[in-house]
Amino acid sequence: MDDVVVEDLWKIYPGNIQAVRGISFSVHHGEVFSLLGPNGAGKTTTISILTTLIKPTKGKALVGGHDVLMEAKKVREIIGLVPQDIVVDDDLTGWDNLMVQAALYHLPKDIARKRAEELIDFMDLREFAKKKAENYSGGMRRRLELAAALLHRPKILFLDEPTLGLDVQVRTAVWEYINRIRKEEDMTIIMTTHYMDEADKLSDRVAIIDYGEIKAIGSPKELKDSLGGDIIEIEVDNVPEKGIESLISNGSIIKEVKMRGNIIRIKTSEGEKVLPSIVLELSRKGITMKSVNLIKPSLDEVFLEYTGKRIRDAEVSKEEAFRERAIMRRRAR
Ligand SMILES: Nc1ncnc2c1ncn2[C@@H]1O[C@H](COP(=O)(O)OP(=O)(O)OP(=O)(O)O)[C@@H](O)[C@H]1O
Ligand SMILES: [Mg+2]
Repeated sequence: MDDVVVEDLWKIYPGNIQAVRGISFSVHHGEVFSLLGPNGAGKTTTISILTTLIKPTKGKALVGGHDVLMEAKKVREIIGLVPQDIVVDDDLTGWDNLMVQAALYHLPKDIARKRAEELIDFMDLREFAKKKAENYSGGMRRRLELAAALLHRPKILFLDEPTLGLDVQVRTAVWEYINRIRKEEDMTIIMTTHYMDEADKLSDRVAIIDYGEIKAIGSPKELKDSLGGDIIEIEVDNVPEKGIESLISNGSIIKEVKMRGNIIRIKTSEGEKVLPSIVLELSRKGITMKSVNLIKPSLDEVFLEYTGKRIRDAEVSKEEAFRERAIMRRRAR
């Protein structure tokens, strides 16, 4: 039995906001499975349903074989959650944050202490364990939250944007921890992210989610292979009136030609080979090229292929929002 089974799951918030619209997927035991999507795609909503924080409007979700509606308590016993928003209590030390968490899970004190000691070392927090969390950096907070989520040895760990708002170096460190955890603890991990490279490096399988629907699902390699090779993007000044396909007559190695705004997007198995002749041909036909880009398959391109947009567009505003939220929380204290 798979650790997570989701069948035709819906969440409609008041005001007919269809956050999740009939998604289905399974997560095998021991997998790292990522939900990859932009702002408002429905990632947190999905995670919240699977961790029993909210109820689905329709559909079925089993976690560790237990129904999230009928057996919510059983589900909670076997899962850990690192939520999207930082939940560390700034007024407590790292150690005390862990003890509060242990109490929530009704862990006996001696076991809680032993595990907290291990996790403090595992997460490289020893130096700061007795310091108030208000002195922690973003990366340290995230690591403390990971430690808190791992205290009761969950079989299935949910990570909602584990590295959001962290700088590149710290993100890499958090990835290393996630990889270590999964190996050492034989855990199944379901995470969300809007970082393409994160999804690519960490996950066994990725589901691309947009507007509450899963657009594609597979291993990063499968998804990239599904693009069928390289992509050439040529930004042009004067968009040709004639069908763009007829402008590029390179025969069989060109698989597809599309216009996206004033960008010609060409799929080909051998980018380097056809690029010079395409450029030559376009210039012969009097088309002014502003930029030429040869792109090797990446999840970025996969995302564009399946959703029609780039996820980067959403990224900046999202990180700004995250920082603002963090500042507001601090002010609220
Ligand atoms: N409690 C709520 N009430 C009403 N609408 C909500 C609620 N929570 C989320 N939504 C809406 O549902 C949609 C999906 O939100 P969700 O938080 O699941 O997306 P997400 O993929 O996690 O986005 P983000 O990348 O910003 O975290 C959005 O349009 C959001 O505004
Ligand atoms: Mg979210």
